[in-house]
Amino acid sequence: MADWFRRGGGPDEKSIREALKDVRDPEIGRDLVSLNMVRGVEIKGGRVKVGIALTTAGCPLRHRITQDVRERLMMIEGVREVEVDFGVMTDQDRQNLMNSLHGGKTELAPAFRDESKTRIIAVVSGKGGVGKSTVAVNLAAALDRAGHSVEILDADVHGASVPVMLGALEKPNVVDGVIFPVESPTGLKFISMGNFVSEGQAIIWRAPIVNKALTQLMRDVYWDEPDFIIVDMPPGTGDVALTVAQMIPKAEALVVTTPQADAARVAMKAGRMAVQAHLRVIGVVENMSYAECPECGHEMRIFGGDGGERVAAELGSRILGRIPILPDTTGEPGRCLFEEGSSPARAFDEIAAGIASMKVRKRIQVL
Ligand SMILES: Nc1ncnc2c1ncn2[C@@H]1O[C@H](COP(=O)(O)OP(=O)(O)OP(=O)(O)O)[C@@H](O)[C@H]1O
Ligand SMILES: [Mg+2]
Repeated sequence: MADWFRRGGGPDEKSIREALKDVRDPEIGRDLVSLNMVRGVEIKGGRVKVGIALTTAGCPLRHRITQDVRERLMMIEGVREVEVDFGVMTDQDRQNLMNSLHGGKTELAPAFRDESKTRIIAVVSGKGGVGKSTVAVNLAAALDRAGHSVEILDADVHGASVPVMLGALEKPNVVDGVIFPVESPTGLKFISMGNFVSEGQAIIWRAPIVNKALTQLMRDVYWDEPDFIIVDMPPGTGDVALTVAQMIPKAEALVVTTPQADAARVAMKAGRMAVQAHLRVIGVVENMSYAECPECGHEMRIFGGDGGERVAAELGSRILGRIPILPDTTGEPGRCLFEEGSSPARAFDEIAAGIASMKVRKRIQVL
């Protein structure tokens, strides 16, 4: 039993503050004490009054916080009644909090810096439509299943598809310029330009603006330093890959191809480009590798070719997994995550295990 649980006597301030460490701000995901939101504790017999400073006056989460505080404090022996008294942080307090959350505005969020434990996995392919986004979200789901913390950065500014794939189109919360990732119905946190524009609205930006937007997502979003951030890259070998490589030298590249020769050729190009940009290529995923006969489970290689093998050989890397074609992958909201235990999901579990078990090497200099 935790030390806040005291037998006999009424509750004391220390035990109340200790218990409040178990209550998280629903938006920021950290506890109220470390966020410096607990501004006072008054105890009269079994009655406890807690002062909480919110980041904004109109915080829609008051009710939830009240409920969570009450529920937690009522677990303490001797507490009979809990009152929550809300105030608002001063501008200075809020600025300090936001700075501490994302490390100031001039640099990338801590997760992207070299010293952070977070591994950044960029999913690249070269050719469009081979399944980068499908691989990105399913890999994230598999890492999550395996108990790793994971978030997704949709770096495909023009063709953002992660929000639709995960079935979460709402706008992110923004507090004082800090953007909070959106959470999908299955609990995956991600950020995408697609969440900033209305559905169906196209973004037409020139490359420098795209780069600026991407930089902003790496700087102004509150990334929680998870074990992994999966970056869904746009097709092509161009600008965005270079930006990611330059800004996040520790990023690792996962190359996606299909078995066909033309996809493999472009994937090799994307892989070589990643290598030239000093990204470490950690492996190749061959998507739409085969179809499973629904009757006997036999693997049918519908597309000819050995794209995965060829790309891996060319890049001096290896195939981390082969994903079967699933007939009912429709691209519909929420329909792109393969069901846990299904054969594609198991293939992703293997890929996730392969990636998680890799020794993380320091950036390699190639040129
Ligand atoms: N293994 C699979 N089985 C069946 N359909 C798949 C599979 N992988 C991807 N798809 C489908 O193929 C289409 C393209 O996939 P996806 O959007 O992931 O590719 P992409 O490489 O990210 O494309 P883009 O280059 O446009 O970003 C989607 O409709 C997706 O649902
Ligand atoms: Mg995509």
